[in-house]
Amino acid sequence: ARTGTAGKMLRERTVRLQYGSRVEAVYVLGTYLWTDVYSAAPAEAQTFSLKHSERVRVEVVRDGQAEEVATNGKQRWLLSPTTTLRLTMNQASIEASSDKVTVNYYEQEGNTPIDQAGLFLTAIEISLDVDADRDGVVEKNNPRKGSWTWGPDGQGAILLVNCDRDTPWLPKEDCSDEKVYSKQDLNSEAVHKMFVRSQGALPHPQALRIVIPAGPSSEFSIGVMWESYPFFGQRYIHILGRRKLYHVVKYTGGSAELLFFVEGLRFPDEGFSGLVSIHVSLLEYIAEGIPQTPIFTDTVTFRIAPWIMTPNILPPVSVFVCCMKDNYLFLKEVKNLVEKTNCELKVCFQYMNRGDRWIQDEIEFGYIEAPHKGFPVVLDSPRDGSLKDFPVKQLLGPDFGYVTREPLFEPVTSLDSFGNLEVSPPVTVNGKAYPLGRILIGSSFPLSGGRRMTKVVRDFLQAQQVQAPVELYSDWLTVGHVDEFMTFVPIPGTKQFRMLMASTSACYRLFREKQKEGHGEAIMFKGLGGMSSKRITINKILSNESLLQENQYFQRCLDWNRDVLKKELGLTEQDIIDLPALFKMEDRQARAFFPNMVNMIVLNKDLGIPKPFGPQVEDVCCLETHVRSLLEPLGFCCTFVDDISAYHKFLGEVHCGTNVRRMPFTFKWWHMVP
Ligand SMILES: *[C@@H]1O[C@H](CO)[C@@H](O)[C@H](O)[C@H]1NC(C)=O
Repeated sequence: ARTGTAGKMLRERTVRLQYGSRVEAVYVLGTYLWTDVYSAAPAEAQTFSLKHSERVRVEVVRDGQAEEVATNGKQRWLLSPTTTLRLTMNQASIEASSDKVTVNYYEQEGNTPIDQAGLFLTAIEISLDVDADRDGVVEKNNPRKGSWTWGPDGQGAILLVNCDRDTPWLPKEDCSDEKVYSKQDLNSEAVHKMFVRSQGALPHPQALRIVIPAGPSSEFSIGVMWESYPFFGQRYIHILGRRKLYHVVKYTGGSAELLFFVEGLRFPDEGFSGLVSIHVSLLEYIAEGIPQTPIFTDTVTFRIAPWIMTPNILPPVSVFVCCMKDNYLFLKEVKNLVEKTNCELKVCFQYMNRGDRWIQDEIEFGYIEAPHKGFPVVLDSPRDGSLKDFPVKQLLGPDFGYVTREPLFEPVTSLDSFGNLEVSPPVTVNGKAYPLGRILIGSSFPLSGGRRMTKVVRDFLQAQQVQAPVELYSDWLTVGHVDEFMTFVPIPGTKQFRMLMASTSACYRLFREKQKEGHGEAIMFKGLGGMSSKRITINKILSNESLLQENQYFQRCLDWNRDVLKKELGLTEQDIIDLPALFKMEDRQARAFFPNMVNMIVLNKDLGIPKPFGPQVEDVCCLETHVRSLLEPLGFCCTFVDDISAYHKFLGEVHCGTNVRRMPFTFKWWHMVP
């Protein structure tokens, strides 16, 4: 941690002298004390001289020119309204009022002073200290603690929203109430340590006032606690935050270090950048009954850490899936897939999911991070299906946070499900880096009046700043989720990725090729009860004019998104792999004709792809063969998972029925410049 006062903005204060008397003043190291010799002089005085103790540095400032004064007091200056004294000291006083400056006033000719004015100084050191250099340790008096800057050389402290739950019997997250129930909550270090440090004797007991500046952006954004005297077992009390905007502590001087704990209460959002300051002021005692005035203020600025999403390229930690009455085989196949990887399977059982299988849609996993601490945080969708209690009841806990945004008036649509909320891998677009990727959400066409993700969630995502969202067009689909037409896969052993996109034209191309090779009578949906009764073949699909027209339209919708993604993520054709897909129109919207392969689960190199049940060419599904030929040369391992009866038939696939918590980025969000 960096220390010292170099480069620190010196703060200035004026002290008034009076001839014939001694004035006491507290001097705070790192500041300038100005005194005006002219107005303190007796009427007859024409010149003055100065004497001062060695530890005080005195400068006479005349018309903007400063001249240092020797301690001996021989020199004389002319009294003038533009002549002032500037005092500094560089060590705290061991005894109160032990340093002095004396001004002697003279008539024009005289050698004996006609009067004197005395200034008795007590130097103290005081600082409000946080971890402004972001190394996880609170340093002393960082000169850049008052402001907040982004980037690898940025400075300024970082707060976490205390949105985990350390006390099991609390119904909600820790920051949702004012009491601190346990020491664990503070020791969990979701809170940021803050010190008021001071040094030096004091002539009178003074007061320290710790202030959160008023204003809608700050009062409800942070809380400050401190350790009170232990009584009734409650050792920590909330002193600041919510309606309490300042707190005064008595300060009797000497070497002191007061420890406070600061917590974030809410995430950056529309109208709240996430920046909050705290001030500490030293209030000067004048006399009993007279209000105290601030003589020194120190400020620290915090930024509340944003909520960050984790793209598919990050290593998985746990895979979540619901156990249903009808998905035994699917569950088994997912379990087998997860066993091939390094992560764990977490099953959400029926008493908790209550018949809701769409675990992708109810929640989005992300995390928050500060130099001193980080933990996963689940964003709960306003969708609120039967799974709605799952995030609070089974995820929220010690070092596992929770946040949600619910619209007050807007209706919630299918586009508010988090299958419609994804994030790209890190990208660079025209020289602008997005080291944490960009958030992708589906909407309707601009101004078309269709469905759109609710504003409170869009605003929340935007306000996090570090993963600048891109709106895509997903309203052409019945369900309307971005995960129905795109996903990202990390190329094993490299830092590269590919974007996979559903493509109806790729499907037609493949089927025409197979037809040409003489496989026109190859049958789809083979071995499936109901769906195979129609005997769907490549020839039948290729000869269906209305299906072709519909899919030409769907390809336009896909291409519109493809173009936006290329532009907003800086992708080229080489970065994109088209996966064959077919949709059919119902009520002017698209639903998958066969299991939509792009809606897959990505676990490093292992891909769990919806089994498409495509045309059987030489006893193998030609869609599977084709997808393998695209992905296996890159090092991926394709597992085709049968989701047809438990998911596909209800308009979802593997991705919709699973969710993955992933490792956080190793890149620190504060190192970027949004
Ligand atoms: C053509 O495809 C559509 C689906 O878009 C389907 O409803 C229709 O029955 C098909 N026609 C024939 C002759 O198979």
